[in-house]
Amino acid sequence: MTGKTSVISQEQLNLQKAFCEKTAAYWQNEGLAPTAYVETYGCQQNEADSEKIRGMLIASGYIITGAAEGADVVVMNTCAIREHAEQRVFGNLGALSHTKRRHPGQKIFLCGCMAGEDAVVNRIKNSYPHVDGVFSTHHLWQFPELLYRVLTGKKRVFFVEDEAGSIAEGIPQARDNTLKAWVSIMYGCNNFCTYCIVPYVRGRERSRRPEDILQECRDVIAKGAREITLLGQNVNSYGKDLDAGIDFSDLLQQIAAIPGDFLIRFMTSHPRDAGKKLFDTMAAEPKIAKQLHLPFQSGSSRVLKAMNRHYDREKYLSLVEYAKSVMPELVLTSDVIVGFPGETEEEFEETLSLIEKVRYDSLFTFIFSPRIGTPAAKMEDPTPKEEKNRRFDKLCALQNAISEEIHSSYVGKTFRCLVDGKDKDLLTARTEGGRLVRFAGDDSLIGNFAQITITGSGTWSLSGTLAE
Ligand code: SAH
Ligand code: SF4
Ligand code: F3S
Repeated sequence: MTGKTSVISQEQLNLQKAFCEKTAAYWQNEGLAPTAYVETYGCQQNEADSEKIRGMLIASGYIITGAAEGADVVVMNTCAIREHAEQRVFGNLGALSHTKRRHPGQKIFLCGCMAGEDAVVNRIKNSYPHVDGVFSTHHLWQFPELLYRVLTGKKRVFFVEDEAGSIAEGIPQARDNTLKAWVSIMYGCNNFCTYCIVPYVRGRERSRRPEDILQECRDVIAKGAREITLLGQNVNSYGKDLDAGIDFSDLLQQIAAIPGDFLIRFMTSHPRDAGKKLFDTMAAEPKIAKQLHLPFQSGSSRVLKAMNRHYDREKYLSLVEYAKSVMPELVLTSDVIVGFPGETEEEFEETLSLIEKVRYDSLFTFIFSPRIGTPAAKMEDPTPKEEKNRRFDKLCALQNAISEEIHSSYVGKTFRCLVDGKDKDLLTARTEGGRLVRFAGDDSLIGNFAQITITGSGTWSLSGTLAE
């Protein structure tokens, strides 16, 4: 490969594998079967990372458990996207001092996006002495070494140096769900939206090699996956750093060409780089779900510019129009931020009018949260909190009404759904558009596609019956 992305060498990965074996031998010597608990916050990227952390723990001899109480290792995989997310982590981290008191051998680790913030690392160093090790996302692959050093040494260990960013292949991954697989196709982000901390804590954009991604997709399909979700902060810029002559649409086509009955989803698409080629590829390929998560963040071009989003209201709306023209059944979802610094009432109204125009199936709604180190945190923000809350409630009410309307229009229609589990007495399934459907059926349907007729609807989900 001639691109800019560096790959961790096999030699370095073998060294990590050896640390796993040494930790397993340590426990064998003690005559004990150690347990580990991993708690995940934040987005699907963190879910996928936690599967790797569990994979490395299992390779080190640990049995995964469902609670921190009594576990020999606790890993908190954290999210830094908003202040509230961080407060929750600090609260739960504080509570771990009690589980540790009851089980003094317990080793506590903090990783994920918060571990990429200097302020957080310093706070852990100074005020959370019960935390034994910290590693940022750049150092995920070195967790076996960190674990061994913490277990056998007396010192706390911090792997938090800000690395340029590389890719480590072949880390063992203990997947939560054999039916639905996360597949990371790239890491990091280059966009530096002015409100967002992700580029600072996850580093620069780097793409995995297509052959590695395809191999992973083949593996999970062979193991029974019926749905693959490709992950990246901005999947549309996949391949730009690779010199492999491949873009995201090409990658989608290559994955779709793998034999088998499965659906492909992906997130997140940035409107900046999404375009006709992607939508045409989605429209032409039956294995790609007709579902698009296309965050718009604001309906005001002035605010979008201040956010450094690189598109305006008109470009966003024309993208949606084209996507809907080639995929009339497209299910659209999005992210929106209310109360960006300096957002006026008129600009907020533009956000509402965009929502009314596009009519999303559902929205992820956020109130702006200033993140230290980002440009937006330094912008003047005269709007009082109460006013932001009022805007937020108004937006949510509008979206809920739209979701309800769209969902009620599904009643009477039949969809091919993937039956993915059980909730109390009912089975759960997802439409191709990603909508949740509950229906009565035999457990043997779990893991299969089924035709389901929608009989009822609400804001968040649908109910149905098996079609004849
Ligand atoms: N890479 C994705 C988004 C990842 S973060 C994209 O660009 O679309 C998920 C969502 O969190 C963002 O889309 C945004 O709506 C929200 N978000 C990010 N930073 C935020 C902040 N400082 N305050 C409030 N919401 C934020
Ligand atoms: Fe954050 Fe913007 Fe990157 Fe998304 S594209 S992760 S919002 S900087
Ligand atoms: Fe949170 Fe990091 Fe994801 S900040 S949203 S876990 S990329």
